[in-house]
Amino acid sequence: MASTLAAPDPAAGAVKADQPLRLDGGNVTYALGVDEHGFLEPLYWGPKLPAGAPLIAKAPGELSGFDPAGSVTPQEYPGQGGGLVTEPGVKAVFADGNRDLVLTYRAHRATAGGFDVDLADISRPVTVTLHYRMDAATGILGRSATIRNGGRIPVRLDQVASAVFTLPVGGDYRLHMLTGRHAAEWTQATQPVTPALTVLESRRGSTGHGANPWFAIDRAATTEENGPVWFGALAWSGSWRISVGQDNLGHVKIAGGFNPYDFSWTLKPGETLDTPVFYAGYTDGGDGEAARLFHRFTRTVILPGGDAAKLRPVLYNSWEATEFNVDEPGQIALAERAAKIGIERFVVDDGWFGARDNDSAGLGDWVVNRRKFPSGLKPLIDRVHGLGMSFGLWVEPEMVNRDSDLYRRHPDWVLNFPGRPRTEGRNQLVLNLAREDVRDHLLTVLDTLLRENDIQFLKWDYNRNWTEPGWPEMKPADQQRVYVDYVRNLYWLLAELRRRHPGLEIESCSGGGGRVDLGIMALTDEVWPSDNTDPYDRLAIQDGYTRAYPVAAMMAWVTDSPNWANGRTTSLDYRFLSSMQGSLGVGANLTKWSDTDAATATKWIAAYKDIRATVQRGDLYRLLPPENGETAATFYVAPDKRQAVLFQMLHSSHWSDNPPQIRPRGLDPARSYKVRLLGGAPLPAAVPAQASGDYWMAHGLRAPLKGDYQGAAFVFDAV
Ligand code: GLA
Repeated sequence: MASTLAAPDPAAGAVKADQPLRLDGGNVTYALGVDEHGFLEPLYWGPKLPAGAPLIAKAPGELSGFDPAGSVTPQEYPGQGGGLVTEPGVKAVFADGNRDLVLTYRAHRATAGGFDVDLADISRPVTVTLHYRMDAATGILGRSATIRNGGRIPVRLDQVASAVFTLPVGGDYRLHMLTGRHAAEWTQATQPVTPALTVLESRRGSTGHGANPWFAIDRAATTEENGPVWFGALAWSGSWRISVGQDNLGHVKIAGGFNPYDFSWTLKPGETLDTPVFYAGYTDGGDGEAARLFHRFTRTVILPGGDAAKLRPVLYNSWEATEFNVDEPGQIALAERAAKIGIERFVVDDGWFGARDNDSAGLGDWVVNRRKFPSGLKPLIDRVHGLGMSFGLWVEPEMVNRDSDLYRRHPDWVLNFPGRPRTEGRNQLVLNLAREDVRDHLLTVLDTLLRENDIQFLKWDYNRNWTEPGWPEMKPADQQRVYVDYVRNLYWLLAELRRRHPGLEIESCSGGGGRVDLGIMALTDEVWPSDNTDPYDRLAIQDGYTRAYPVAAMMAWVTDSPNWANGRTTSLDYRFLSSMQGSLGVGANLTKWSDTDAATATKWIAAYKDIRATVQRGDLYRLLPPENGETAATFYVAPDKRQAVLFQMLHSSHWSDNPPQIRPRGLDPARSYKVRLLGGAPLPAAVPAQASGDYWMAHGLRAPLKGDYQGAAFVFDAV
């Protein structure tokens, strides 16, 4: 991640007013300066500036007696103190009751791909180091902070952000967000940015379904293809908060980090607290380019393996077919059918362990159920491997049913406040992974499972959020560390398992898409966006998900119809065309499929393998979002522009309707492309078999679809 650092002094040293700290990457410049009072000020974040461009740090003075200097401030990372009335970066309470923290610039140093800037309180020994690192290719900046108590008495921190970002003064900003609930994740919402503070957050201990830690802010005139967009996401899988608001000087500020709700961290003498990283980027290429940049960044920098990561294999998962009724003959029967239609990875879901016949027992007991698998998992795994597929297994390590051997042995291992109720969700309690003994136990159990069985993939689930988040074994002042230590231990556990089992792949699932964020993505290879597998609902879910995260990690299964989530009936062709817009999987009960169904699936899976690299690694153009009309269309262009795929999906047609002509984007205008329909159907009469990229992008094309829930996919191959 090499980026240029235009710093006045490569060693620690003072920044002069006309020599900003500056980062350049992609088409973006980000710059900071120190004003005449010593405050670190954001100077610029936008399109790349010429080298040496003048950028001047000047503190706003007193506005009136009601707004003294420093009350509304463009400070890069303000302490809660002085006259500050906007969101602080950090809020501290000293043992003597002093709550005044005023941070000024002290020094900075170049680091790989960026720099560190030290701030310190004007009189007390609390320092903050701000870390900056910019991705040279995309200009996406990672910011985080380290707070240090350099004194001899403890300091309590009540609020700690990773970063505060500041946008240019302006009045027509819009905030885009992703909200939802179980089986309805990735709902898109937009609202104007106003002086009213908007808070996106999770108070639930985990990322959550309610909102995703992602934002995009554009201007009123920004479109999908044009105009400024600032966007970003927090790399954190615990309680988080992103706030967006405008101060009374018109600066838009975006603060993100640990959720201050129920948060407190007592920094002991000499101790430091590191925040998660808040990644953010800028483009003037519209909302579509913002998403494409973020996809590229997440794929190449965040996800394990980066560019060298394997493409997602086509997987089969048994959950919707069997639920808890898994056993050796049943799973082998499914595996044989899966192999025949071209599946590459076979995954046994919930129900294989302990006394797990339904969701009220067995969680926590990660030993094979010998009634269901009398000789262990080996015969099944051998059969799956013999059929040429890799083998995967479902686990939910962080949870326990009351009715389990683990809970009977260690009732003190769950989050709880002594003497208070232990509220259950799906009949389960949350293990306190912040405890070292719980962490070590889970490592031993999972490591043993992976050593004793030839497993290539874990689906790692997490099916409830926190209640009564007590950690009674800690001193009262340290009990709220649970919010941070839990997530750190989760990351440690995932990293350690990957280290001990190279080649192991992991999916992050949380009752669907409840734990999708850049923190967990750095340690998992794919995510399950939603338990809602209805192919039409999925178009909207996939559209919302891809506003932020890459298709490379987005699993999409074809399941049975009518769908469990909404009772909708759709054709198998439509279901495949919906799922092929992501990383394809199958979750249907294959033992109930007819030969025709199996032949249909075989055809689509083979067709998918031919376009998978383009879908998973290509640039995604959201041509017609599903929420905007009867026709939805997505377009994927391979990075070298040699292949592209257009999906056209019709929701329902009225007697007078005719599907719109769809104009692709992102093709090489000068190149000639041959076009065919995926799956072998003949091209519609009005579509030429070959034409230039220019022609396709100007003239467009369409399949004359009629009826309800119809779809088609065109493949463009460069000649
Ligand atoms: C969650 C997951 C499902 C399935 C079940 C198993 O709901 O999201 O895919 O694994 O748990 O209990």
